[in-house]
Amino acid sequence: MAVVGGGPIGWAIAWRCAQRGLRVVVHDDRPGSGASSVAAGMLSPVAEAYFGEHELTGLLVSSAARWPAFAAELTAASGVDLGHRTEGTLVVGLTADDLAEARRLWSYQQGLALPITPLRPSELRDREPALATRVRGGAVAPGDHQVDPRRLVTALRAAAGRAGVALRPVRVGALSEVDARVTVVAAGCGAAALTGLPVRPVKGQVLRLRAPAGGPPGFRHVIRGYADGEAVYLVPRDSGEVVVGATVEERADTEVTAGGVLTLLRAAAELVPELVEYELVEAVAGLRPGTPDNAPVIGPLPGLPGVVVATGHHRHGIVLTPVTADLVAELIVTGEPDPALAPFTPDRFGKERTWN
Ligand code: GLY
Repeated sequence: MAVVGGGPIGWAIAWRCAQRGLRVVVHDDRPGSGASSVAAGMLSPVAEAYFGEHELTGLLVSSAARWPAFAAELTAASGVDLGHRTEGTLVVGLTADDLAEARRLWSYQQGLALPITPLRPSELRDREPALATRVRGGAVAPGDHQVDPRRLVTALRAAAGRAGVALRPVRVGALSEVDARVTVVAAGCGAAALTGLPVRPVKGQVLRLRAPAGGPPGFRHVIRGYADGEAVYLVPRDSGEVVVGATVEERADTEVTAGGVLTLLRAAAELVPELVEYELVEAVAGLRPGTPDNAPVIGPLPGLPGVVVATGHHRHGIVLTPVTADLVAELIVTGEPDPALAPFTPDRFGKERTWN
């Protein structure tokens, strides 16, 4: 079988399928260079549970529950430390309006019985003294963790290679160029041109800062918040890196703009003032593969027998990697789609598909 796309979704599917006895070739001329090379790696089934996305939330919860075992198995299989951290996530609001916005969402999440608990400002600062004294309040989502996406791809490539997966370093312009009985399209935004599915680029600009003097960042939780109406997240790594993200722009370019950097840095420093002392080491932009309902597209492609799609993961590619790989491998090996895939099938877009 062939997998088109060497991001985490593609490599994880290839690894799982190879473990089940299939001969797999991944096709990608620049593996690991897409959205995952920019992503922060938040494993956030709770803080990213949004209004009206009930089925997507269920898939996020299912995949997040698989992450600890997935990380342990992958680390053992690859010898690569994934930077998987489990301190949890704080959701905070800088002003009264920001806090009201945050509270509106976490009240919805509590209504779904997801684990998120409001904290008083003093409790927030006990957990993270680096938070600005102006921060009005927040909540903790203890089950929202993080992983380093660049290390994840390195680990998946190594584990897949050890399981017998080969890499064909080519850019696939059409599915007719791929010679395989089964082809999985895991090409992120590139899936639109290959399949005609309505997958569109959603640009995200992201910064990487580094704590002074080679030390760790001055906070340990992932911090997500609103600061004067701007949404921002801060992801601290053991290496001293802090990822600051992200803009959400309906654009297809990957230029870093002064406005994007300004907006992210201002919001980040309002929540954690010490960040102004950090080194700015990287500013990049990536393209999330978005869909009309913000949910991924996973399953057989109608009209093209032997083609399975796994794309459209939008803001959730890293957290959804384990469940996507498990469900696609099961589908390919047994020929039977798991009922969990029903809300995410490619045929749900009907006429919105532009080519087959
Ligand atoms: N999941 C975070 C982002 O897409 O920016």
